[in-house]
Amino acid sequence: MLRIAIQKSGRLSEESLKLIKECGISFINSSLKLKTESTNFPLEILYLRDDDIPGYVADGVADIGIVGENVLVEEGMQQLAVEPLGFSKCRLSLAVPKSDDYSDISDLQGKNIATSYPNLLQSFLDERGVQAHIHTISGSVEIAPSIGLADAICDIVSSGSTLISNGLKEVERVFKSQAVLISNQSLSDEKRAILDKLLFRIHAVQRAQR
Ligand code: PRP
Ligand code: MG
Ligand code: ZN
Repeated sequence: MLRIAIQKSGRLSEESLKLIKECGISFINSSLKLKTESTNFPLEILYLRDDDIPGYVADGVADIGIVGENVLVEEGMQQLAVEPLGFSKCRLSLAVPKSDDYSDISDLQGKNIATSYPNLLQSFLDERGVQAHIHTISGSVEIAPSIGLADAICDIVSSGSTLISNGLKEVERVFKSQAVLISNQSLSDEKRAILDKLLFRIHAVQRAQR
């Protein structure tokens, strides 16, 4: 039996479940359960917070997982990556209030920036020689400027509608992301064989979609 960790709720969860189903893997999907077993493939699904998935896979609590590259790289866990999955594409961007005059990155010098991705943001700023105060918060980042917590934010943008509804404009792209399959690095031969079967099916699904 192989254990896969996927996001419990959010942008990734629906498409992760869709991929598993398209692989012909059936399971009873109850939104209340945090664990479910497939009825026709040796796979157990754990529903977790996306930020927790790389750590659980690294520790072997889950064998494999589906997570955004943004979370994986932020947590310094790139070594777990097996392959990109081509869905849940998004970007990590800097945004400021839409009425701000913004010309380039130097405008962020000395500013307060709220984000859930302090490491990705810090390296982006370092590479450009900009010093700013990074304020790490775990959610609702987009409201930070309007409540006076920050001058700018750095968060995930997909459709862009969250930015618009919070009166913000995207000014810099920090990181491009998509869903990625990750794996524990010391799987047993038995689990490795199940993963190979799963990968075979994933590739067939991807070929059919091209
Ligand atoms: C991101 C981000 C925004 C939203 C942006 O959250 O924090 O809330 O997506 O999407 P939009 O541009 O289409 O409006 P995410 O789904 O990554 O969840 P999380 O921050 O709760 O992990
Ligand atoms: Mg999250
Ligand atoms: Zn702070």
